[in-house]
Amino acid sequence: MTISKRQTSMRTHMCGEIGTSDIGQTVTVCGWVAKRREHGDKLAFVDLRDYSGIVQCVIDNAVDVRSEYVVKITGVVRPRPEGTVNVNLSTGEVEIGECVVEVLRSAEPPPFPVDARADDVDENVRLQYRYIDIRRERMQKNLRTRAKVNSAVRTAMESQGFVEVETPMLVPSTPEGAREFLVPSRKEPGSFYALPQSPQLFKQLLMVAGIDRYYQIARCLRDEDLRADRQYEFMQLDAEMSFVNQDDVLAAISTAVIAAAESVTGVKPDPIQQITWREAMERFGVDKPDLRFGMELTELTSIFSSTEFKAFAGAESIKGIRVEGKAEEFGRNKLDALTDRAKKMGAKGLVWLKVATDGTLESPVVKFLSADEQSQLISSLQAKAGDLLLIVADEWSMTCEVLGTLRNDLGRPPVHQGPYRYVWVTEFPLFVGVDKETGQPKPGHHPFCQPHPDDLDKFESDPMSVRSLAYDLVLNGWELGSGSIRIHEPEMQRRVFTALGISEDEANRKFGFFLKPFTYGAPPHGGFAFGLDRLVAILAGEENIREVIAFPKTQSGQDPMTNAPTRAENKQLDELGIRVLPPKV
Ligand code: AMO
Ligand code: AMP
Repeated sequence: MTISKRQTSMRTHMCGEIGTSDIGQTVTVCGWVAKRREHGDKLAFVDLRDYSGIVQCVIDNAVDVRSEYVVKITGVVRPRPEGTVNVNLSTGEVEIGECVVEVLRSAEPPPFPVDARADDVDENVRLQYRYIDIRRERMQKNLRTRAKVNSAVRTAMESQGFVEVETPMLVPSTPEGAREFLVPSRKEPGSFYALPQSPQLFKQLLMVAGIDRYYQIARCLRDEDLRADRQYEFMQLDAEMSFVNQDDVLAAISTAVIAAAESVTGVKPDPIQQITWREAMERFGVDKPDLRFGMELTELTSIFSSTEFKAFAGAESIKGIRVEGKAEEFGRNKLDALTDRAKKMGAKGLVWLKVATDGTLESPVVKFLSADEQSQLISSLQAKAGDLLLIVADEWSMTCEVLGTLRNDLGRPPVHQGPYRYVWVTEFPLFVGVDKETGQPKPGHHPFCQPHPDDLDKFESDPMSVRSLAYDLVLNGWELGSGSIRIHEPEMQRRVFTALGISEDEANRKFGFFLKPFTYGAPPHGGFAFGLDRLVAILAGEENIREVIAFPKTQSGQDPMTNAPTRAENKQLDELGIRVLPPKV
C-alpha cells in the first residue's frame, strides 16, 4: 500500500484542513486534545490538534478525554450554527458532529499549556519537555521552515552540479580557531579524536581528489561559550569548488541562499550586493553590518585637524553618528550609560552633543570646539534639531568598533521586523592583530587563505595592509557564513607561514597531514560555509537559534531533557584509560 501525503490507514483528513467543501462527509482525524469545554449536560466540545491546525469536534460528554489525550475521532463535517463561526481558525466555519471517539493513549496533564506563548514558560521547562514544546504551533512552523530551507539548499546545490559527500565525525585536531570537543580512543589510551569544527580539511582534500564541486549539510561541533547565535552543535551548508575565482563561489552560494529564502518567504530576494570589508568598517563600524537602517558612521578627522579640544587633538581617527531625534530621550543617566559602554569597549571617552531647536549644539564640551568646528560638525553629520550626536576619537579600529556597536545598540530593529538585507563582505584583511606572545601577525580567517593578488608587492613590507580573498555573507547584522579562495601553491603557502612566524619544520609538524596531499596535485579552489541555524532563525523571525533547533542545549551547555552531559561510569573511564581528578579547591 502506498499512503498519500496525509492520509494513513488511521485517518482520512488532517485537522487543520477540514473546511466547508467537506460538509456532509464522514471524516476521521487523529491528534491531541487541545481543549475541552462542556456544553450542556449531554455534549462537550473538543478541539483536536495535529500539526496542520485545530478542528472542533462535538462529542458525548460522557467520553473521558482530557488535555493532550491522543484520540481518533470519526464524525460528519457540518457547518457551525449561526453566530458560532470562529474567524481566527482555518476550520472555524465547520465542526465535526456525531463523533465516535477512540482514545489511543491517555495523557498526564502537560507541564505547561501547549498554546502558551514561549515567553510565558521558563525556557528550561520548555527544553525539559521539548517533545511537548514542539507541539506548539510556533515550533511546528520553525522546524518545518528549517526543513524547507534544507530542501531548497540541496536542490539549488545539486542543480549547480555539486556532489554531496559525507565527511567523518572522528577527525584529528585541526587548527581552525575554536576549542574542540575531544573523544578518547579506547584502542589507544591517551590519544583522542576531535569532533569536526567544520569539514574544512576534508573538503579541500576532496578538491585534490578531483570531486570538483562538493557540498554537504554538515554537522559541526565547537566547544565555545554559547550565545543567541551559537550552539555547540550546529549545521553548515558547506561547499568547495575547483578551478574557480571568488565570483564563482559567491554566485553559487548566492543561488542557494536566495532559493532557501524564497522557499520560506515566497519572495525572491534581489541579487546580493557586495561591499568590501574596509567600506563595511568605515560606514557601519563592524564587519557584519545590518543594512536595514541608516545611522552610518561619519568621518570627522579632518574637521579637527587643528583642534584645541584635547580629547580630539592628534587622534588617528574621529568618527561620529547621528541618532535622529533622540536628544530629548537621552537624559544624563542614559548618556552616562552610553559613555560607560564605550569605555568598556576600550574607548577613552564618548562625546555627546545635542542639537537644540535653534540648531546650536549643547554639550559640556561644546566650549572647547571652535565655531567653525561646530558648524562643520553639523553639516558633516547632517544634524538637525532634536538629534543626538555621538563622537569618538581614537585609533581607527577603536572608533569603528565603539560607534559600530553603539549604532547597533541604538538603531537595530528586532529580527522579526525584517526586511531581509543580505550583503557579501569581501577583501577581509589577511592578518588581524599581533600575537601577544610571538609578536607575529595572526591570520584573519585561517593560514590557508589566498592573499589578494593586488597586494602581493607589499606582502613582506607591510603585511598588515594585505587584503585576502576571504569573504563573509551577512544578513541583518548576523554573520551567516565565511569562505575564501585557498592557497594551492607551496611557494605562496611558505610566504604566509613565514609572515605568521611559522617555520617549515613547525608547518610540517602542525599541518603536514594537510599540506602533503597538495604536493600530489592540488587544483586552484575555494569555498564557503554558512550556518543553517542562523539563516533559518532569521527567516523564521527568531532572535535565538535554539528556537529553530529541535533539541538544543541551554546557554550553559546542558540538555534538561536528557540531562546531558552526564557522569561516565568508572568502568567506562577505565576502559578509556581516563582518570578524573577531583575538582581543584
Ligand atoms: P566559520 O568558522 O566562519 O567558517 O563558520 C561558518 C558559519 O558557521 C556558523 N557557525 C555557527 N553557528 C552556530 N553555532 C556556532 N557555534 C557556530 N559557529 C559557526 C556561522 C558561521 O558564519 N570552514 C570554514 C568555512 C570555509 O572557509 O569554507 C568555517 O567553518 O554562521
Ligand atoms: P576629559 O577631557 O577626559 O574630561 O574628557 C572630556 C569629554 O570628552 C568627556 O565627555 C569624555 O567622555 C570625552 N572624551 C575623552 N576622550 C575622548 C575620546 N578619545 N573620544 C571621544 N570622547 C572623548
